[in-house]
Amino acid sequence: MPRTRLIAANWKMNPPPAGWNEADSPYRPRTGLDVVVFPSFVDLDTCMKAGLTAGAQCGRSEEKGAFTGDVSMRMLKGPGCRYVLCGHSERRKFHRETDGDVAAQAAAAFALGITPVLCIGESAEERESGNAQKKVREQLQNISFPVVIAYEPVWAIGTGKSADPKNAQEMHAFIRSLLASAEGKRTRILYGGSVNEKNAAGFLAEPDIDGFLVGGASLDPAAFRAIVEAAAQRP
Ligand code: 13P
Repeated sequence: MPRTRLIAANWKMNPPPAGWNEADSPYRPRTGLDVVVFPSFVDLDTCMKAGLTAGAQCGRSEEKGAFTGDVSMRMLKGPGCRYVLCGHSERRKFHRETDGDVAAQAAAAFALGITPVLCIGESAEERESGNAQKKVREQLQNISFPVVIAYEPVWAIGTGKSADPKNAQEMHAFIRSLLASAEGKRTRILYGGSVNEKNAAGFLAEPDIDGFLVGGASLDPAAFRAIVEAAAQRP
């Protein structure tokens, strides 16, 4: 059974793109492929009510409490949130989330039936010093339950400098090799980092790349549509 491809739009701190709610919006679910959007918290409920498959950009592991500004996994479960990003590099950088925090978030989401999309990836310095694999191995420690993995090398995020598909494939195969064999076959590993309508097909030709977590290009409906269409073609 081939793994169902997943194309995810991470809108970050931006409003939903023009036309997101139209009948032929590229952000809507379609058959044969999972299309998931990650709006800001204020738009999440609206997107779900409009029939999109939506996830949250982050969530806290604690059920409730004195954490001003935060939202718990339990609170996300209420309105029917299906996915949550855990450990996006911008959360690690701007909110100092550690591997331990991220593992706790993913565990809390999984326990509630929300699919964690675990974001991992090395910095430019880690890649240059030959430590990229060591980094992702560390980031995957303590993850002993099913997740979707998004490999997003930090140096490729928002820079226009995507990874080379062959290098990304090498890392995806390495990540898969770290998972228990049956789990490894099932786990979807997405690539993220300057994905656009021009480079998408090259990544999708690689056997261990099961889709994308798209940032900037997901805000452009035409570009996102082209990426989704590329993923819908299967040889
Ligand atoms: P860009 O596609 O803008 O590089 O962002 C990637 C990303 O951070 C998706 O989560």
